Amino acid sequence: MIIAIDGPAAAGKGTLAKRLAIALNLPYLDTGLLYRATAKRVLEAGGDPTDVQAATAAARALSKADTSRADLRDAVTSKAASQVASIPAVREALLAFQREYGSANGAVLDGRDIGTVIFPHADVKLFVTASVEARAKRRQAEFIARGESVPLANVIADVAARDEADRTRAAAPLIPAEDAILIDTTTLNIEEAFLHAMQEIEKKLAASNS
Ligand code: DC
Repeated sequence: MIIAIDGPAAAGKGTLAKRLAIALNLPYLDTGLLYRATAKRVLEAGGDPTDVQAATAAARALSKADTSRADLRDAVTSKAASQVASIPAVREALLAFQREYGSANGAVLDGRDIGTVIFPHADVKLFVTASVEARAKRRQAEFIARGESVPLANVIADVAARDEADRTRAAAPLIPAEDAILIDTTTLNIEEAFLHAMQEIEKKLAASNS
């Protein structure tokens, strides 16, 4: 079974995807880590994340150790991840890994193009979103938990800029698949979002089996 979860930054996709993967006994892949790790490789080599050749070579050379690093979520890496993610050859280089990951035993995958490009025939597609303010507050709480203090206005600007870049890029832009179930987490806590998503998944699977 493939559960595709897409949506903008800090909408709660990762937390929800992890909970769903445990409940459904499926492996979980955070595909954003592939783009973050690619960006980190480019940055550490002193390269430019908008350089097609450097970014594509980094994506092709990616190893498991790269994606397991704990330092992939800072603001510089986030921006660079969005930049490498807009390069079609980078997306192409990361595609086979994502498909193979899901095809082995099924999976919950979260990202931006899982339901549209990676698994267009996923059993269930969720598009998880929330207002920019709600998402920025969650991202700010993550920064604070890591000991980084960033003004909310900066986080809002950063989240909005990344949304814009992810939505308007030519390669696999962030758009809901036609058959995606929309989940707005603006006023939902983690537990509520999880229960709502489980209900939607059960409905969808029951409809598919009838
Ligand atoms: O989900 P995230 O914030 O960790 O993603 C980091 C960047 O990678 C983000 O700018 C969008 C991009 N991304 C993507 O283009 N496609 C995916 N499947 C996952 C992430």
